[in-house]
Amino acid sequence: MVIIIGSVREGRFGPVVASWVAARAREHGGFDIDVVDLADAEIPLSLPAASPKFAGDSYPRPDGMASLTSHLNEADAFIVVTPEYNHSYPASLKAAIDWHFTQWTAKPVAFVSYGGAAGGRHAVLHLENVLTELHAVTIRDGLAFPNYRTTWEDGQPLDPQAPGYAKTLLDQLAWWAAALRAARNSVPYPA
Ligand SMILES: Cc1cc2nc3c(=O)[nH]c(=O)nc-3n(C[C@H](O)[C@H](O)[C@H](O)COP(=O)(O)O)c2cc1C
Repeated sequence: MVIIIGSVREGRFGPVVASWVAARAREHGGFDIDVVDLADAEIPLSLPAASPKFAGDSYPRPDGMASLTSHLNEADAFIVVTPEYNHSYPASLKAAIDWHFTQWTAKPVAFVSYGGAAGGRHAVLHLENVLTELHAVTIRDGLAFPNYRTTWEDGQPLDPQAPGYAKTLLDQLAWWAAALRAARNSVPYPA
């Protein structure tokens, strides 16, 4: 499973949330976990002429994107950790999504969001819409952290219910990961 840190901003909070989520996933068990930081990848805004939907492995991605692409290829489940920027998700995340296509197909994606009053929920609504277009399966139970500046301390959310919500998200993600892995292995997805 790959946990994606969606923000790349200087001074960002994303790695704190991702690290807490990774700890919950390790506790949960049943996942091989890689935390993938988009700040470590080269993700140009200018895309090649062809679509990654049809180009397959010959899609001309920059060398600095190779590790990101290989993690997305290998993953059988994703957790996207996203803040909310102007009622949506960061451009870094959109660019990373758009450089790929088959990497998302018939795989489950769960969301952990954070931000101001809305806790990143506007960002997640947009992500659900976009990832459905890429044939991903979005997970019903997300985790949203409103006003994280006052509701997190020392890398932990203060809400005592947060670990329970994380467990529900991880249970659903594990269920879908197993179901979709078996389905992909038995019948080619009719994309
Ligand atoms: C460009 C920008 C736009 C933002 N817009 C929103 C917003 O619409 N809603 C919200 O709840 N927070 C908004 N925020 C506050 C962010 O949620 C907060 O800064 C958060 O820390 C950003 O995540 P990051 O630290 O991982 O970059 C915005 C922040 C930035 C930088």
